[in-house]
Amino acid sequence: MNEDFNPLNSRALWLTPERLHIESTWSEHVPFAMLLVELHRPRAIVELGTHWGISYGAWCQAVAALKLDTRCYAVDTWAGDEHAGKYDDTVYKSLQQHHHKYESFSKLLRMTFDQALAQIPDHSVDLLHIDGLHYYEAVKHDFDTWLPKMTDRGVILFHDTVVTARGFGVHTLWAELSAKYPNFNFEHGYGLGVLGIGSNLPAPTAQFLVAANRQPQIMRQLFAALGGRIRQGVEREHDARQAQVKRPLWHRGLRKIKNTIKGR
Ligand SMILES: C[S@@+](CC[C@H](N)C(=O)[O-])C[C@H]1O[C@@H](n2cnc3c(N)ncnc32)[C@H](O)[C@@H]1O
Repeated sequence: MNEDFNPLNSRALWLTPERLHIESTWSEHVPFAMLLVELHRPRAIVELGTHWGISYGAWCQAVAALKLDTRCYAVDTWAGDEHAGKYDDTVYKSLQQHHHKYESFSKLLRMTFDQALAQIPDHSVDLLHIDGLHYYEAVKHDFDTWLPKMTDRGVILFHDTVVTARGFGVHTLWAELSAKYPNFNFEHGYGLGVLGIGSNLPAPTAQFLVAANRQPQIMRQLFAALGGRIRQGVEREHDARQAQVKRPLWHRGLRKIKNTIKGR
């Protein structure tokens, strides 16, 4: 791996994520999200599409842990969409509760991505994560409308870059954009594209992109392994909780059998 990028020098990469959810397909990218905050030291982060807040929780946790002077904005209607499915207010309320501790530097903007354009000044965003509706036209619209918000240090992330089912079109946009800008595409966890659109990227971010492109397989393996462990933890905890919910039923069933044997 390139000498200028050494994951052992990172603090954020090894943080234990505080916000995870079984329904999110983002948990496998949390280690990279936290590392990127450390490398890039963004002055403003905007996320388009937050849902349960797994990616957003990673940005906020890293900003807080590293004591950065970063403003964070999560934009979502918190109503769902055609790909994520429609959901009720439980999701927003759960995130609000988790988010209280980040309120000094972060805001949940409950509105459409287009409505949020008026809230964020042009040339002010160092890190943008696009994870809304995944049709080609929708992602392209999000990219085009938010591009003027980016600074010359700007990095844009796209989730689901390797998904071709259900009409997902991020892969098509990714093919177009990755031909124009420095980039790296993680292929695990449905794909996460990292696009360095700024002409003046912070040196650590630029060095990461160089190192990743020099040894793409090693970089992909490292982050797939780190992310996979997080995903496995989420699944284990979910299974354990499900088993606990089911236990009283078994117990009741067992009691019934014992009582039948005893003739009650
Ligand atoms: C795939 S989910 C986001 C997942 C999230 N990043 C995570 O970490 O799990 C997509 C979200 O985008 C929101 N969304 C889609 N299109 C939107 C739009 N135009 N305006 C606001 N929210 C939108 C949906 O409500 C949904 O919660």
